[in-house]
Amino acid sequence: MSQWNKLTDIFGCNTHGDVIPECAADNICIAWPSVIEGIKKQFPCQSGLNALDFGCGGGLFCKKLYKMGFNVTGYDNSEELAKKAQENTPTDVTISGSLTEIEQMGKYDLITSIMVFQFIDDISSTIDDIISLLKPGGMVIYAVFNPKFIRDNLNSDVFTKVPENGKVYMELKKGIKIPFNNRKDSDYRYIFEKKNYKEVYIDYPKFTEEFLKKYNMPFSTKYSEYLIQAFWK
Ligand SMILES: C[S@@+](CC[C@H](N)C(=O)[O-])C[C@H]1O[C@@H](n2cnc3c(N)ncnc32)[C@H](O)[C@@H]1O
Repeated sequence: MSQWNKLTDIFGCNTHGDVIPECAADNICIAWPSVIEGIKKQFPCQSGLNALDFGCGGGLFCKKLYKMGFNVTGYDNSEELAKKAQENTPTDVTISGSLTEIEQMGKYDLITSIMVFQFIDDISSTIDDIISLLKPGGMVIYAVFNPKFIRDNLNSDVFTKVPENGKVYMELKKGIKIPFNNRKDSDYRYIFEKKNYKEVYIDYPKFTEEFLKKYNMPFSTKYSEYLIQAFWK
């Protein structure tokens, strides 16, 4: 069973009209605008293109892609979050918990992945799986933790490093510690360039004053929380 099932109340939340849920505010207000800028740079017209959101959680970004005009598929291997994504998205959006099923459904112009890659240990083979689903000329864009942000926040209430194994853990809910890999932009660049993909977008979107006036973050906001990167072949 995926440990993400236990975080359904955090990652399964929904947006209602213009109301942004507190639990997803940093993602929606800081990471999304940069991801969307990267998408629009590569695809000025989005209507009718196929998009896959890999690790879609509760489906909020699937909903956003759908509103932008994409034909959307969401994939998540947490059964509970995939269920939530089904509830949270329009019926035209396909949600699946099976990568085999996704592979049989065709190819994509765009693959997005928001805050997922750092939780996957063998990222090079996952990226192989993902890029095998791209159409020629397709793009992968993702958000991951900015390693500088993590270093600044180690041993805060949310992030800890265990000296015995050197692993960094995220604890959004007491007792549920999720290990992750604190990779740099150059680590991802190395993986993608070996597969003949070219970097077409990179950004470290900063917390804005307006955002910080509205939302209380349980960590230091000195550095951008996010690294956004995109690769294209
Ligand atoms: C931090 S949440 C982000 C969810 C969503 N993308 C968002 O931005 O709200 C990480 C998500 O990645 C999913 N995930 C982790 N490893 C995965 C894998 N190997 N394949 C598919 N999904 C995965 C989890 O189930 C969880 O929904």
